[in-house]
Amino acid sequence: MSKRAQRKIEHIQHALATGQQRTNGFDDITFVHQSLPNLSIAEIDLSTKVGELTLSSPLFINAMTGGGGEDTVIINEALSKAAKNANIAVAVGSQMSAIKDKSERPSYEIIRKVNKEGIIFGNLGSEATVEQAKIAVDMIQANALQIHLNVVQELVMPEGDRDFSGALSRIEQIVKGVDVPVIVKEVGFGMNREVAAKLKEVGVTAVDVGGFGGTNFSKIENMRRRKMLKFFDQWGISTTASIAEVSSLKRIPVIGSGGIQDALDIAKAIALGASSVGVAGYLLKVFIDKGYEHLEQEINQMIEELTIVMSALGSRTIQELQYAPLIISGKTHHWLTERSID
Ligand code: FNR
Repeated sequence: MSKRAQRKIEHIQHALATGQQRTNGFDDITFVHQSLPNLSIAEIDLSTKVGELTLSSPLFINAMTGGGGEDTVIINEALSKAAKNANIAVAVGSQMSAIKDKSERPSYEIIRKVNKEGIIFGNLGSEATVEQAKIAVDMIQANALQIHLNVVQELVMPEGDRDFSGALSRIEQIVKGVDVPVIVKEVGFGMNREVAAKLKEVGVTAVDVGGFGGTNFSKIENMRRRKMLKFFDQWGISTTASIAEVSSLKRIPVIGSGGIQDALDIAKAIALGASSVGVAGYLLKVFIDKGYEHLEQEINQMIEELTIVMSALGSRTIQELQYAPLIISGKTHHWLTERSID
């Protein structure tokens, strides 16, 4: 197995071992109860827009894997099939390995093979060139391309990048060079509003905050390098603070992610301003620990329970849910006050 493939397998193993941290800030968010919601649950419409993309549900499966041999084929087949059956979008993990080595393509191509009509996001890092971005989109006929920003992960990774210059201008070139929407995402360290504003300036369609408090790539990489940069384990902007911070710009669609585990988390992320919500590590764990049937059940339950939460709040649509009244307390409140965000 190549070093890169080995790393992918280690990421999956360590992601499962370190688990979800649950320090994402959702416990700081409380909905204001609504005794007169004045709607029927049958009226609820979960469809949402992320820039020019229309999704039938705000929930999607976020980028995880590919290129690690037979195991990643099995995982991606399951994720894609589950996404198809629930009619939700799904992202592939970074496609760079398959661009560099064609023998790694089947674990990515399987995502489109089992899900011909569905919405699928490609994925590359910000080191990618326009040419590589085009190959990634073509490889899986992607409906959108995610570009991940993972500076801290790279720094903790012994073999990681050390040169982060030029990322914004490469993203700008990719936005101009591919004919699908580009989403820029973090991987669990959160994103601030200044970065989101710069990304908007260069034409990015949406940002996925990838907040702190769920999967922790510092911990994952530290397991591989024997905890040399342990201070990064607590580094990042919580998911709630990051969604609220970037949404306060009101200039670019926000995707909420980082430690999402249930319908209430999804509803809170939307009420903080997200128009779509990605789940990665939690669903991977459900699949690996309990199998495919449970993965499908879990996704269906999240969607069904989201409608139930929306009916309690009197929100007919995802747009209405974005304005559901809530109380922000604790660290999230403190963060937003310090950052002068109402
Ligand atoms: C990831 N994530 C990720 N992100 C990305 O943009 N490209 C990638 O290749 C990967 N690979 C990857 C592997 C594994 C095993 C996990 C668990 C995650 C990050 C992922 O998309 C997401 O941003 C973070 O995991 C935070 O969300 P969760 O896991 O807390 O829901």
